[in-house]
Amino acid sequence: MSSVTLPPGPKLPAVIQTLMWVVAPVKFGKACLRRYGPLFTARIVGFGDVVYISTPDGIRRILRDDAGDFDAAAANESIRFVVGEHSLLMSGGAEHTERRKVLMRPLHGNNVATYVEVMRSIVEQEIRQWTVGSTVRLLNVFQRVTLEVMIRAVFGITDSSRLDRLRQLVPRLLDVNPLIILLPAMRRQFGGFGPWAAFQRLLRETDEIIYAEIRERRAELAVNPDGRGNDVLSILLAKGQDRAGVTDQELRDHMVTLLAVGQETTATQLAWFFERVMRAPGALKQVEAAVFSEDWKVLDAAIHEAIRARPTTLDIGRIASREWKAEGYVFPEGTMFAVSLGLLHLSEDLHPQPENYSIDRFHPVEPPSAHFMPFGGGSHRCLGASLAMIEMRTIISTILRNVRLRPRSATPEGVTPKGPMLVPRRGAEVVIAENHMMAGRE
Ligand code: HEM
Repeated sequence: MSSVTLPPGPKLPAVIQTLMWVVAPVKFGKACLRRYGPLFTARIVGFGDVVYISTPDGIRRILRDDAGDFDAAAANESIRFVVGEHSLLMSGGAEHTERRKVLMRPLHGNNVATYVEVMRSIVEQEIRQWTVGSTVRLLNVFQRVTLEVMIRAVFGITDSSRLDRLRQLVPRLLDVNPLIILLPAMRRQFGGFGPWAAFQRLLRETDEIIYAEIRERRAELAVNPDGRGNDVLSILLAKGQDRAGVTDQELRDHMVTLLAVGQETTATQLAWFFERVMRAPGALKQVEAAVFSEDWKVLDAAIHEAIRARPTTLDIGRIASREWKAEGYVFPEGTMFAVSLGLLHLSEDLHPQPENYSIDRFHPVEPPSAHFMPFGGGSHRCLGASLAMIEMRTIISTILRNVRLRPRSATPEGVTPKGPMLVPRRGAEVVIAENHMMAGRE
């Protein structure tokens, strides 16, 4: 690789760059963007040279990948031990297309729209606990709410002891120690005491619950084939009955994948939504008016602007499976790309004054689709986009219809990494100014 010329990037030692990348990824990414432009190379311990790309055309070409030049599964290899070998994230080509087809129907907008009532009742249960004058960390609330939506609406679990146990296990499972993701050498038992052994115990217990649920639901379906619910697991089980296709292990991997990619992203994005909207002049009033008049276009614009201004992750990975020519470079096979949707959305050229939160960027006229891709694009575009949008609309509108909020402090919350997520440093703290739903008021 010595004769290969990659785009320029910071000259700092790899250890220092890695430290900056771990501690302050957005600051690091923005500083490199300003200095080197939308194509730069960072050196990250554990990954080596990583080419960041945030030009609309480069991103479009990599994500569409018409010629099959890129491998998404190889870039996700570090989480195979969590999501399993049958996960959508671990497949490419025809196998990936097949797996996507399986999940597409239950995650289609028409189906997930039937979850709205459950979503509303879950968030109302939280709102009832909020006393006037108290401080609430919205990130914690949304983590509970999105987990509940996942295990009740998406998995369709009703057994209360399984629900209780998953409520305890899943947050710990998703808070996986980054050392065992980044350093495969850490994946050792160390006499049962290290982070790997602890993680294995968590994973085993979670899997046992999921497998028990699958077995029970299969048995129910065999007795009553028409009695299935519209949760994702039921639909996949019924499909398996038609074509004897979906094994228990595949179902388990699909469920854990949805948890891994769908729960914390939505929770964190919701927290950022409130953090941003409450600090931009007039934005909260504009969103409240939209909620009361059911102007969903304005609410969606406000959600999109929050995703643009405060991404929960900065980039997605791809590895070149063969030589790729672009932007005046010849990238050899094996080049690791960080396709940076986050930096695309924070580009000063494409989104003037990117630090400012403004709903008007998305309403009444939306930016060109190549400049804003909240859910990615191409063959790996987010399968949960409809679910995420419906869930965010429902949760936000239920809160704003019933509660008046103000930020605990006027100072914006910093961006801080928590596992793979970039979360608001104080957890999106708000003070409850009025609550029409407080316990005892009805
Ligand atoms: C605000 C919330 C969300 C955001 C911003 C988001 C964003 C994304 C993005 C950018 C990708 C593309 C990754 C890539 O190209 O490698 C993706 C993939 C995916 N997302 Fe989401 N997502 C969200 C919520 C959800 C939810 C709620 C679910 C389902 C429960 C979900 C399921 C998936 C799946 C299964 C994939 C992989 C698709 C594939 O590889 O074919 N996401 N998401």
